[in-house]
Amino acid sequence: MELPKITPDFIRAAKSRQERVAALTAYDYPTARLLDEGGVPVLLVGDSVGMVVLGYPDTTEVKLEEIRHHVAAVARAKTRALVVADLSFHTYETPESAVANSRVLLAAGAQAIKLEGGVAVLPELRALQAAGIPVMGHIGMLPQSVKEEGGYKIKGRSEEQKAQLRADARAVEEAGAFAVVLELVEPELAREITGMLSIPTIGIGSGPHCYGQILVTHDLVGYFPWFRPKFAVPKADVGLAIRGAAEAYVREVAEGGK
Ligand code: KIV
Repeated sequence: MELPKITPDFIRAAKSRQERVAALTAYDYPTARLLDEGGVPVLLVGDSVGMVVLGYPDTTEVKLEEIRHHVAAVARAKTRALVVADLSFHTYETPESAVANSRVLLAAGAQAIKLEGGVAVLPELRALQAAGIPVMGHIGMLPQSVKEEGGYKIKGRSEEQKAQLRADARAVEEAGAFAVVLELVEPELAREITGMLSIPTIGIGSGPHCYGQILVTHDLVGYFPWFRPKFAVPKADVGLAIRGAAEAYVREVAEGGK
């Protein structure tokens, strides 16, 4: 019997079912299918695609069209998992553009969208809620602001940052998000925010107390060996396997094999 598809409301209710949420990024058809077959309930077509697939230095160069292209590939895998797509940099500067650009990603097959920010994007979050577009929030370190921030730094160490992050978390929940990513949030604050919200927090580099965890799949499987964040513990070495297969193939051809 085919299991029912995962919906935003199913994820929203994860805490009431006492069920932790595992999320991974996916940018292409085979990876989406494999992760789905592995039982991952949430697949994010993240703007991290810009770094681990397209070779940009950070996520600020990713265009909406690039996200749309990858969403369509992931959607063709027809997964049971919920497909969430990132709104790329500068595509949600007004409530109108947030709604219009989200619709582009929904038309390509996304079932929900994610955007970075809390209180600062409240008008956009509310417009998405009014338009009936399911939203995953994203607070803490915001990669689209990496240039202003001067790097990927832990958030929530000072009292000022703690207060800001609590306000951001409340804003995202009140604006109807079904879950919120906490990126590089100081672990004790992540625990506090997780207890404070009814929607699940999904952590990345924010310690073990979030209600779920998300990783860039390339970091999980060792497919971007030139850089791996400290918090990501790889469970495979795909990079080594590909390099090894390439070397074996080159040898075989050199020796006159088919
Ligand atoms: O783009 C991305 O991959 C993300 C993460 C939360 C992993 O936003």
